[in-house]
Amino acid sequence: MAIRNIVKEGDPVLRKVCRSVLQFDEKLATLLDDMKETMYRAEGVGLAAPQVGILRRVCVVDVGDGLIELINPVIEAMEGEQEGAEGCLSCPGESGIVKRANKVTVRAQDRFGNTFTVVGEGLKARAFQHEIDHLDGIIYKDRVIKMVR
Ligand code: NI
Repeated sequence: MAIRNIVKEGDPVLRKVCRSVLQFDEKLATLLDDMKETMYRAEGVGLAAPQVGILRRVCVVDVGDGLIELINPVIEAMEGEQEGAEGCLSCPGESGIVKRANKVTVRAQDRFGNTFTVVGEGLKARAFQHEIDHLDGIIYKDRVIKMVR
């Protein structure tokens, strides 16, 4: 495993729409392992592949109850609303208030290509929405109500 460099805001790679993963191979496994290590080292709760310069639909989330690897994730259902502070490893030292759904159901594939569904509420729902946005070139500042100090 290796720590990868986290791309910072302003890099055009963060504005691209990522392509689906079609090959569930060793290269994908290495990417996921590296993303996990990079996220934990940076003390983040989520990381998306474009943040390490890879334009594929891959992200990792861990809000404190275990790692979730999402490949080709799709939000299938959204419920309720939450408003809260959000930051991004690509925008260090900043945060802003963003309105998100309070509960989301995500369908995705695991590193072997198996499809699964995961439900997130609160912080986990926020992380899912934030990371899946990255796969479409969207950063939280596009949705921010106001930045906070
Ligand atoms: Ni982010």
